[in-house]
Amino acid sequence: MPIRTTKLMEMKQAGERIACVTAYDFPTARLAAAAGLPLILVGDSLGNVVLGYDSTLPVTMDDMVHHTRAVVRGAPDALVVADMPFMSYQVNADEAMRNAGRLMQEGGASAVKLEGGQHIAETVSRLTDAGIPVMGHLGLTPQSVNQLGGYRVQGRTLPEAQRMLDDADALERGGAFSIVLETVPAPLAAVVTKRLRVPTIGIGAGAECDGQIQVLHDILGLGTRQPKHGKRYADLNAVIGEALQRYAAQVREGTFPAEEHATDIDDAVLQELLGAVESER
Ligand code: KIV
Repeated sequence: MPIRTTKLMEMKQAGERIACVTAYDFPTARLAAAAGLPLILVGDSLGNVVLGYDSTLPVTMDDMVHHTRAVVRGAPDALVVADMPFMSYQVNADEAMRNAGRLMQEGGASAVKLEGGQHIAETVSRLTDAGIPVMGHLGLTPQSVNQLGGYRVQGRTLPEAQRMLDDADALERGGAFSIVLETVPAPLAAVVTKRLRVPTIGIGAGAECDGQIQVLHDILGLGTRQPKHGKRYADLNAVIGEALQRYAAQVREGTFPAEEHATDIDDAVLQELLGAVESER
């Protein structure tokens, strides 16, 4: 049975921690679902991790729809949340509605995620009133990297911390079903988590959040990123690199493909073919 947003609230109430990852394609979504992860985020980190950009800013609505569709096919029962990319919701609430609608209708997402606090609370409210579940995102919001002056910890000063509480309250009032806290001091994330009815999902925000999310490629050791808040559970760079080297070496030396990788044809057909080729000479 597909997991709904209400399940996350039940998990918070029951004190059950929520494990989430990002995914961007069919095979990784299948693996995440098979591992029992209830929530999969098609993050706009897609831009850095899969598309080779140096930020999330170039990611488009078409990119998000395309990758969300693949993830939903791989994890039809997970709660698949799609990130709304840069400039798909900032202009006005009508555009936000149209674009969130595309992620759900064309992409098959169950919910969308928006970055920001009080200034987008009205948009969040419009979306949730229309039946579109919204996940909030506070702290380090990568779409604002140019304004934040880099990928830095957010909420270290009293005014910043106070604003984060106000932002979290505004998102919850707007109807957000959950809020991501990215790169936030752990004690502040703990305060936000205790204060909210909806679950917080942390990334670099300590162990007191109701759940944790990590970028899949970071925890699998695939690619070049190694964020401080990530832990490598595998070294896929090494595994894949070594496999590709062995493959290339075997092709070069002629040991791949072997007989068991090839297909035969009936000997009589072959003989007839060879005879025909011969008589053409
Ligand atoms: O885009 C993303 O992957 C995210 C997570 C880091 C929360 O927003």
